[in-house]
This record gives sequence, structure tokens and C-alpha cells, in this order.
Amino acid sequence: MRIACVGAGPAGLYFAISMKLREPTHEIEIFERNPPGVTFGWGVVFSDLTVDNITRNDPASAKIITSEFAHWDDIDVYFRGETVTSGGHGFIGIGRKRLLEILQERALELGVALHFNAECDPGDPRWRGYDLVIASDGINSRFRDAQPDAFGVDVDVRANKFVWLGTSKVFDAFTFAFEETEHGWIWAHAYRFAPDCSTFIVECSEDTWARFGFDRMSQGESIAACEKLFARYLDGHSLQSNASHLVGSAAWLNFRRIKCERWSSGNVILLGDAAHTAHFSIGSGTKLALEDAIKLADVLNRKSLSLEAALSEYQVERSLEVLKLQNSARNSTEWFETLERYTHFEPLQFAYSLLTRSQRISHENLRLRDREWLETVERWFWKRATNGGSNKTAPPMFAPLKLREMEVENRITVSPMAMYSAVEGTPNDFHFVHYGERAIGGAGLLFTEMTCVSPEGRISLGCTGMWNDEHVAAWKRIVDFVHANSKAKICLQLGHSGGKGSTKLGWEGNDVPLDEGNWPVMAASDVPWSPANQVPRPMTRGDMDMVRDQFVAAVRMGLEAGFDMIELHAAHGYLLSSFLTPLQNRRTDGYGGSLDNRLRYPLEVFAAMRAAWPGDKPMSIRISATDWAGDDGVTPDEAVLIGEAFAREGADLIDVSAGQTWVGQQPVYGRMFQTPFSDRIRNEGRLATMAVGNIYEPDHANSILAAGRADLVALARPHLVDPFWTLRAAAQLDYRDVAIPPQYLNGMAQLARNLKREADATAALRV
Ligand SMILES: Cc1cc2nc3c(=O)[nH]c(=O)nc-3n(C[C@H](O)[C@H](O)[C@H](O)COP(=O)(O)OP(=O)(O)OC[C@H]3O[C@@H](n4cnc5c(N)ncnc54)[C@H](O)[C@@H]3O)c2cc1C
Ligand SMILES: Cc1cc2nc3c(=O)[nH]c(=O)nc-3n(C[C@H](O)[C@H](O)[C@H](O)COP(=O)(O)O)c2cc1C
Repeated sequence: MRIACVGAGPAGLYFAISMKLREPTHEIEIFERNPPGVTFGWGVVFSDLTVDNITRNDPASAKIITSEFAHWDDIDVYFRGETVTSGGHGFIGIGRKRLLEILQERALELGVALHFNAECDPGDPRWRGYDLVIASDGINSRFRDAQPDAFGVDVDVRANKFVWLGTSKVFDAFTFAFEETEHGWIWAHAYRFAPDCSTFIVECSEDTWARFGFDRMSQGESIAACEKLFARYLDGHSLQSNASHLVGSAAWLNFRRIKCERWSSGNVILLGDAAHTAHFSIGSGTKLALEDAIKLADVLNRKSLSLEAALSEYQVERSLEVLKLQNSARNSTEWFETLERYTHFEPLQFAYSLLTRSQRISHENLRLRDREWLETVERWFWKRATNGGSNKTAPPMFAPLKLREMEVENRITVSPMAMYSAVEGTPNDFHFVHYGERAIGGAGLLFTEMTCVSPEGRISLGCTGMWNDEHVAAWKRIVDFVHANSKAKICLQLGHSGGKGSTKLGWEGNDVPLDEGNWPVMAASDVPWSPANQVPRPMTRGDMDMVRDQFVAAVRMGLEAGFDMIELHAAHGYLLSSFLTPLQNRRTDGYGGSLDNRLRYPLEVFAAMRAAWPGDKPMSIRISATDWAGDDGVTPDEAVLIGEAFAREGADLIDVSAGQTWVGQQPVYGRMFQTPFSDRIRNEGRLATMAVGNIYEPDHANSILAAGRADLVALARPHLVDPFWTLRAAAQLDYRDVAIPPQYLNGMAQLARNLKREADATAALRV
């Protein structure tokens, strides 16, 4: 094949090498706009996995690259006058210039033709003379941008400003240095990549950048200002840029996240940064470029594949890996963009939050990297959780939490889950066993299912209720069992179905109206849940008074039944949620329109409930922190204001769920997918929160808690099939102080032994 590569970055060079290794008769030319030896940037970091990949692909170049690697283990985080050092991170890095030299030499050795000072124009007809044109022309690819529709280009210009500098100061650890200035926070990411040289990337928000006046400074002035700002880290060494002599490079940039729906068009194929970018803070751009190159060379040389099939396979095989990295990179980018949310943390927690920002590194990963450091974090967490009373080194999920005078034994909660099994609203033996079993299963706090304040407020005929004495007695039997046989606390979730009422049992069809015997429903406005559901009656002021009083009556009954806590359900499109979301609330009176208006009735109900509930007992509010509808619905920004408004009325905990407020929602699912909303409400509103949604491993819970993304962690579906989730987690983490029913002590010890044996056997297999 006759192939032209545009750009002699890692992607173009390594692709040419990989092609020649597979088939020496390919004719490959590389065109690079810059002269030899001139490049932007300083060092790049690699992972062990990338090293394995390049070693398998081309042992000769890998040998030279790895022999020149700088290695370092520690990460130092400088924050508010303290240095937090954690170890075991195992980085390897090399100068970008040196990497390119090695790759250029190898390419020449294999017979690749290299043309420097060769600016390529995508409109030039000569490209038609090649079988393939590899657009390895980097993040600002002209070849990609010449055909944006054909490639389906999606560019996201990120908020922060950064500049990629170098210095002769040698940093022994990967260093994050955060400085608070009169203009805002500014920070550096620095690491050594050669015996005498380090990368030094400076980053800040666009506002801070403008307040510093960087927009009006020359490159030299910017560098001088950064030297002054970071003087105490540089020990007299200067900062340098190598962007000034490059074509098309600027000093300060906004990172551009590139995604392309298609990676080829005609004979042009996108490779490396031209096809996709990953934020520099996860250091994976070069890895992606090299691995793209290996895969593309592989598929193009597979004899059984046509060119079309090869290109499609290239994209299919690479896009999953790219997507995973871009997701992690997005988390990491957002962490730096919302840095000020975390600057109230103590240095240790700030460092933990930083290390776990991309969700690729978890609590247990950190334990493997540096057990001693992680245990310092755990001790710190316990000390704070107990107001200095405990020096325990143990997983955060087992630390207690006090809300008003209620103290929960640990941070795991059983999330509210409708069981659709009551008759006339009365919980029965099923509920007795269901809640009893989950209480002795070790969770610190149990939520009841949405328990309805009136017969008409039920979702289905199987919903539990709290509107008569029979209900109080049945709930009291459950609550008494929980208190007598476990250390768990139990919270009554109260709700009203609104326009989503009068439907079948959950497993007979979600939100599907009854075949017969439907009762009239009401909501904020006459917006039906779906075309199949009833049109609700917009609530009159009289309806509002009646429903508010029903909630208050249910609170009093909850007190009589002995509940420890009350939650008001204002999420998921039910009655109170129908006021909060503009997608359901079309009112033109004082209860619709602005957020203040939409909040008015739910707050009134909450305040009335709070007044009826003892001052020493806590209350929470469950909200949908987004309607998954962009700016048309409740946004995460609004969710902070909603949380704050309920907190002002006496809510002690914001239970942060999301969605289910309209049928057209577009949720973005994934592990812990709703936790970012909890993080935001907790750290912007400074409120106690509970995270929920696809949290299923102890490691998730510990990471969320230690990073300060929530105060409690709720699990719903995992508890359906495993009432003993918390005890199992305790066995797995070898935590002995969990409240185990004495009857089950032997089983617990055996489970702990078996799990340890299994873990050891798996570790031995890995070795
Ligand atoms: C601040 C910063 C820090 C980074 N840190 C890391 C890190 O630690 N680890 C890591 O793996 N990655 C890192 N990266 C990302 C990494 O630099 C890129 O992902 C990687 O270089 C992509 O390789 P590439 O070959 O696709 O593109 P590039 O390396 O950008 O190469 C493209 C080449 O094409 C040439 N070119 C462009 N247009 C033309 C044209 N029209 N004609 C001729 N030549 C042209 C350019 O001059 C350039 O040499 C970082 C990026 C930034 C911005
Ligand atoms: C069977 C079932 C019933 C549910 N019922 C309720 C409910 O009554 N009240 C409520 O607020 N959420 C309810 N939910 C939502 C859960 O509390 C939780 O927010 C959701 O399932 C996400 O958590 P998970 O990924 O751990 O399951 C229910 C979920 C399930 C699976």
C-alpha cells in the first residue's frame, strides 16, 4: 500500500513503524510541518499496560524507550500550606522530544520516508494518489476539520485555561501545587521526565486567568508571572515554554475534547488526537495514539479483511477503550473545573478527592498503592465522624453519623423500595420479614417504601399507607422488631403519588393504569404522566390544604409507631415532584413558573411536617436532582438551591436521586451515576447528603464517603437480593465491630475466612 501520514507525532510515527513491521513492502511517507527536533510540550507519562503493548508490538523501540524512562512513585499534593504525600502510584515518563526522536530513528531504519517543514493542505489533489492518508495531525487536525460532517466531529471547549511549560527543577514526586491568590485558585501539575527536566503545566479558571491579566500578557510576561506564583516550588529554577517557535501553537489554551462519530472518510483515516482527545490531567493522550496505531496496523494487514471491513473493525475495537478513557477524563476535567467546590476540605480529604477524581482509582486501589497513607485517611475520617472520639482505622462505611440526636451505626442505608404487597395500605407479614431481615443484615439505616398519606395518594393498590390506626399498629410491630433486634434506625418515607397514581403493581407494568376501578388523580397541573395515564386535576388551594394536613397526620402517626426519622418524597414525578419540575408544573399562579414558586408548596408541606415532628429527630427530603432534560427541566444547579431551601426549613439530609420525572428523560447511566449530584449539593450547598444509584460494591461506598461526595450511601436493588449486604461487606473488609445478631456470629466468622481464602487464591493466580 502507498500511504501518507500527515504529522510526525506519536500517532503518525508509530503507525508507520507498525505497518512496516507487519509488511515491509508498504510505501510510507510522513509529512511534518515542523523542522526535526522541534515539538510542543515536555514530558509524557505512560502506564505499565501501554509499555506491555508497545513491547509486544515493537521490542526494538520499546527497549530504548523503557531504558530512558524516568520512574517515580509518590504524588505530592500541596494545599493550604500542607503537603500530603501518597505513594505506590508507579508512574513512568519520557520527554516528548526524546520519544519522537526514538520513533523517528526507528521509522527511518524501517524504510519510512520522513519529510519535515512540510505543511499539508487537505485540499491538495496529491492526496488522491495515495491508497490511504493517515490524518495523524493532532488535536487541531486540518484534515478532520476539512470534512466535519463526514467525520461527525464533536468539539467541547473546556472551561479552564492551561499552559504547558517545562523547568530544570527536578520534582521527585508527581506534584500538584495549589495556590490561593487574590484572583482565585491557580495550580500546577508537575513531574520529572528526564534526569534534569520536569513538565510544569499551570491551570486555572478562565475568570482567574482574566483577573490575573494573562490575556493581556506576552508569553514572556505570563511565564514570569507563573515563576513568581510558584516560586516556592521552583527553588530558583526558571520556567520555559517551547511553544513560541512552533507553527500554530499558543501559550495559554482551553482544552478541546474531540469526539468523532466516524474515524474514516474516503481514503482519509483519523488517528490519535485527530480522532479523539483525553484531558491532559489523566495523561493518556500518547497512550491512545500509540494503541490506535497498533490496532490500525493490525487490521489493515489482516489478509482476510477488506479495507472497508478493516476500517470498521478499527473503530469498533478502539472506540470502547477510547470511550472509557474519555469518561474518566471528563470526570477529571470536571474536578479541576469545579475545584473551588472542594477547597473547603482539609488537605488530606482534598488529596483523596483529587486522587479519586476520575473514578478509575478507588479506596481499595489506594490501599494497594499505599496502605499506610490510606489508613491515615481512614483514621482521619473516623476521628471526624466521632468528633475526635475514635482513633479507629477502619473503612469509612462503618463510621457512625449523627443527625440531630439520632446516631446511625454505619453509613449504609437500605434505599426506599415499594413492595406493592400491602392490603388497604396495611403492611403485613411480608413487610415484617422484609424490613426485619434487612435490619439484622447490618445496614445502619432503613428507609421504608413510599408510604402514602391517603388512599388516593397511593401509586397502586399494593402501596403501604399511614392514614389509620391499623397502619400505625402494623408499622409499630415492624419498628419495634427493628429496634429490639438490631442497631438499625428506621425512617418512614412519606409520599403522595399525584399524577402517577392509580396504576398497577410494579411487576404488572410500571405506571400502567388499572384495567378497571381507577380513582381520579391530582397533580400540580393537568399534565398526564404519559398518553396512557389519566389527566390529573390541577390542585386547588383546598386540595393543597387537605394534602398538607394528611402529611402532617401521617407524621404524627409515624411518631406513634416509633420511627426514628421521616423522609418526604419529593422526587420521581410524584405529587410534590410535579410542583418542582417545570416539565409537569404549568401553573400560572404563585406555585408555578420560577423556582421559588415551584418550591412554595413542597416547602409548605415540609415545614408543616417538621413542626409536627420532634426537634431532636431528623428529617430528610428526597429530590430528583435533574430531570435529565437539559435546561428544560430541573438542572443540577437548581438542585443545589432546592436542597438549600429544604435545609432552611429544617431538612437534615438531602437524599439525592435523579430523574423519573417525565417519560422523555435521557439519563446517563453508569456506576455511581447519580453521585455527582450529591457531591455538588453537599459541597456547594454545604449540606449533608445521601447518594444513591448503581452503587453496589463496598469499595464504591468507601470511595464516595472518604472523598466527601456524600454522608450516607443508599443501596436499593443490591438489598433486594442480599439483605445482608452490609454484613457481607464487613466480612469482606475484615471489619469485626459491625452489629451482628449474636445468633449469626459463627456464620460471619466463617464467611470472613472463606472470603479471605478466595481473595488469597485469586491474588496467587495473578502472580
Ligand atoms: C498540556 C498537555 C499535557 C499532556 N500530557 C500528556 C501526558 O502526560 N501523557 C500523554 O500520554 N499525553 C499527554 N498529552 C497529550 C499528548 O500530547 C497527545 O495526546 C499526543 O501527542 C497525541 O499524539 P498525536 O500524534 O495524535 O498528535 P500530536 O502529538 O499533536 O502530533 C501531531 C503532529 O502533526 C503535525 N501537524 C499538524 N498539522 C499538520 C499539517 N497540516 N501538516 C503537517 N504536519 C502537521 C504537528 O506539528 C504534530 O507534530 C498532553 C497534552 C497536553 C496539551
Ligand atoms: C423495586 C423498587 C422500588 C422502589 N421504590 C421506591 C420508593 O418507594 N421510593 C423511592 O424514593 N424510591 C424507590 N425506588 C428507587 C430506589 O430507592 C433507588 O433510588 C433506585 O433503585 C436506585 O438505586 P439502586 O441502583 O441501588 O437500585 C425503588 C426502586 C426499586 C428497584
